[in-house]
Amino acid sequence: AATLRIALAGLGTVGAGVLRLLEENGDLIAARAGRAIEVVAVSARDRSKDRGVDLSAYDWEDDMTAFAAREDVDVVVELVGGSDGPALALARKALAGGKGVVTANKAMIAHHGLELARLAEQSDAPLRYEAAVSGGIPVVKGLGEGAAANRIERIYGILNGTCNYVLSAMESAGADFAEVLSDAQALGYAEADPTFDIEGVDAGHKLAILASLAFGTQLDFDAVETTGITRIRAADIAQGKALGYVIRLIGLADVSDDGHLFQRVAPYLVPVSHPLAGVTGPTNAVVAEGNFSGRLLFEGAGAGDGPTASAVVADLIDIARGSRAAPFSLPVAGLKAAEPADPGHRRNR
Ligand code: NDP
Ligand code: HSE
Repeated sequence: AATLRIALAGLGTVGAGVLRLLEENGDLIAARAGRAIEVVAVSARDRSKDRGVDLSAYDWEDDMTAFAAREDVDVVVELVGGSDGPALALARKALAGGKGVVTANKAMIAHHGLELARLAEQSDAPLRYEAAVSGGIPVVKGLGEGAAANRIERIYGILNGTCNYVLSAMESAGADFAEVLSDAQALGYAEADPTFDIEGVDAGHKLAILASLAFGTQLDFDAVETTGITRIRAADIAQGKALGYVIRLIGLADVSDDGHLFQRVAPYLVPVSHPLAGVTGPTNAVVAEGNFSGRLLFEGAGAGDGPTASAVVADLIDIARGSRAAPFSLPVAGLKAAEPADPGHRRNR
C-alpha cells in the first residue's frame, strides 16, 4: 500500500521524540500499519537549533500552515502547543483541506475540539489526539474504543505528570517546590507555560476531554473548576502523612441522570491504601467506572518525550490502517449538551 506521508510541526520534546521513534521502530511500525509511515516535511521556530536528530532528509517550511496546501502530505502532526495561534490555524486548514491531523495539544482540543471534529466530519478526514491526555497511556482509545460498550458512571485520576512529580518529590525527599518544578521543566514534563501545570489548567484540559469521551457530552472546559498545587506547603504534606494520607492533584468528572456535568481539578487527600496514593513521579493514572466493565485503571507515564511520542505514532498507525473512529466516539451532532453542575463556575460568564 502507498506510504502514509507526514508533515511534522513542532520539533521540541515531543516532536524530536516522534522522529526518533519513527526512525528506531520504522520496520515494526510499517509491518503493523500495513504500510510505511514517512516524514516528508518539518517546521519549528528556529531552523538552526540542534535537536539531536538529523533533519537533512526532510523539507523545511518556515510557515507550518503551508503543510495544508502540500499535495505530498497526507497527515499533519501538530506538536507545537497553544490553544490558538499557529497550531489551530494549521489544524483548521489541514482538516478543511481533507488532510488528517494528529495532535498532542490538549489546550487546543479542550477549547476547539468540537469545531475541529466538525471539520473532520465534513471533509471525512481523521482527527486523533491520543497523546493529548496522559502522555503514553492509551486512555482515549481505552475509553473511546475499549470501553465503548459501557455507560461510564464516573471518571477520575491523576492527569498532570508535572504536579505529581512535584508532590511526590516533596513527600519523599522533602524537596522545595520551586526546585522540583524546575527539574520537571528540565525533564520535558512541563508545559511551555508551567503555570498551566501547577494551577491545574492542564489537568482541566484533559478532564474536559475525558468527560466528553466518557459521557458523550459536548466538551465544556469553561465549566471545569480548577485549583492547583501552588498553595501546598511541606507542612500540609507532613500533616496529611500523619493522618494516613498523601496529597494528589485529582481531576474528577461525573454526570447526573438529568445531564448535569460536574468537573473539578483539585488537590485531594488520598488514603495511603488507595491505588492512586502509590502513583509517583510523572506517572498518571485514570480510573473509569463502566456499568458492565467495572472499574478500569489506566496507568503509565503521563509526560515525557518517549511515552508521548508512543501515543502520537499509535494515532498515525491507526490512520494508516484506515480507522474511521469518530474523534469523540460519536458524531458531533450526537454529543449531548451538558449543563454544568454549578453554572457559577463557568469561567466565561
Ligand atoms: P516544546 O516547547 O518542547 O516544543 C514546541 C515546538 O513547537 C518547538 O519545536 C518550537 O520551535 C515549536 N514552536 C513553538 N511555537 C511556535 C511558533 N509560534 N511557530 C513555529 N513553531 C513553534 O513542547 P513539547 O514538545 O513539550 O509539547 C508539544 C505539544 O505536546 C504541546 O501541545 C504539549 O502540551 C503536548 N504534550 C507534551 C507532553 C510532554 O511531556 N512534553 C506530553 C503530552 C502532550 P523551536 O524548537 O524552534 O523553539
Ligand atoms: N505538562 C503535562 C504534564 C504534559 O505534566 O502532565 C503531559 O500532558
